[in-house]
Amino acid sequence: MTPPDGATAVLREEHRLILAVAGVLEQLLDAQTDGEPLDIDAVESCSTFFRLFADACHHGKEEDLLFTELENHGLSRSVGPLAVMLDEHRQGRELVGGMAAALDGAREGDDGALRKLTRSGRGYIDLIRGHILKEDNVLFDMADNMVTGPACERLCDAYDSACEREFDGCTKAQLEGIAADLLERFA
Ligand SMILES: [Fe+2]
Repeated sequence: MTPPDGATAVLREEHRLILAVAGVLEQLLDAQTDGEPLDIDAVESCSTFFRLFADACHHGKEEDLLFTELENHGLSRSVGPLAVMLDEHRQGRELVGGMAAALDGAREGDDGALRKLTRSGRGYIDLIRGHILKEDNVLFDMADNMVTGPACERLCDAYDSACEREFDGCTKAQLEGIAADLLERFA
């Protein structure tokens, strides 16, 4: 029997939270464009959320569990939609790494670091929005049709186990708490 929430429901729900935090980051960067000082601490919280929730927790489940299941159904990691998604995950990792690397310099008033922080942040917002649009409307629809019944049950159980891990010392609930705090303060 296919679980009522299907093979991608948990991941689609996580997408909503990732997009909401991307919206907070955009608001922070727009405020700076309008002449306000950049709230570096809040940008750091966004960066931490993207590194640990969007990448380690969410992309981890996609790459280790969903994509592996889709390979069992004949998709390849080397070409086609999985290859595109994996490459975008890599690009996202680079952009979030760029943000994290620029935080200290930006905090100390280094203009170059501040420019790198805003450029990486804007790049990540654009990337993750396009990426999630593709997953939600193309890859995940394919996955929902391909992974059903017992395979879907096994996948959902594996998602649950993965979500119980810690990500650089943070539980999924703590990472959701970072998002909730940002959304309460800025959304
Ligand atoms: Fe995703």
